[in-house]
Amino acid sequence: MKKRARQSLDPAAVQGTLLEGQSVRTLQALGLVTERGGASADAHRKIKQINHFLRLIAPALEDVFARHEQPVLFEMAAGKSYLGLALYEHWIARQGRGRLVAVEARPELAQRVRDIADELGFDRLEVVCGRIAEVDLPERAHFTLALHACDTATDEALVRAVRAKSDHVALVPCCQAEVARLLKGVKDGPDALWRHAWHRREFGAHLTNVLRGLALQAHGYQITVTELAGWEHSLKNELILGRRVGSFHAGARAELDALLTTIPVRPWLLDALAADA
Ligand SMILES: C[S@@+](CC[C@H](N)C(=O)[O-])C[C@H]1O[C@@H](n2cnc3c(N)ncnc32)[C@H](O)[C@@H]1O
Repeated sequence: MKKRARQSLDPAAVQGTLLEGQSVRTLQALGLVTERGGASADAHRKIKQINHFLRLIAPALEDVFARHEQPVLFEMAAGKSYLGLALYEHWIARQGRGRLVAVEARPELAQRVRDIADELGFDRLEVVCGRIAEVDLPERAHFTLALHACDTATDEALVRAVRAKSDHVALVPCCQAEVARLLKGVKDGPDALWRHAWHRREFGAHLTNVLRGLALQAHGYQITVTELAGWEHSLKNELILGRRVGSFHAGARAELDALLTTIPVRPWLLDALAADA
């Protein structure tokens, strides 16, 4: 299976990998497909990953497009926006409605995505340059995606999603350093779990994502946590999917509070959500 994924593709094979609405032209603009229409082994793996992710989030997007005439999709920490541009083509362009707002802190990456969107005529894709927590965004969003947003950028995305009452969220967190740092000073509770630096990093990352899940639930989201299978090149492959079914859940709030009593840490996420309440 892995061996096949490493093979390069000839133009006919590239055609065979395309999802409905997806074009070779877009994959070329992204630098994943050559002028002749083939793909290197690395690019093949990337295309497979993008399409796998698009399939995973398809039920959420079907729901969003069924319920909203002009849905607003957020792609947070877009980077080169491989996923956002593919998402645009597969959903927004194919449906002929909706828009994508991509947020990226690095100006050169934001400009690159703008240039590609211009070249492809993706005129309902807006790239906002700045930090997720600070930029102006539409008040309401219907789907929020954050793939490998560094450290607390995932939390910034979560906060913006909750604030925008995003119907669905899809988070694949990146490195989580903040909670590990906070745990360093904590001697209360079951501190054998984080006494050693290695354990602190692993447990801190795990606790971060548990807190993210509970925080989403406390704000009315039903969540599933699974593995983003097929992302073989990365160990950061936890996928948190959330669907908004209410605005508050007292049980999840109580669970979150109880956990924070046992392990007294206060990451940025919780204060940011509390400030919005
Ligand atoms: C690991 S890359 C992931 C890019 C893309 N989502 C992907 O998976 O290919 C993380 C990106 O997040 C951006 N970033 C980090 N912190 C950010 C923040 N607070 N607001 C906006 N973008 C941020 C970085 O500049 C970088 O482009």
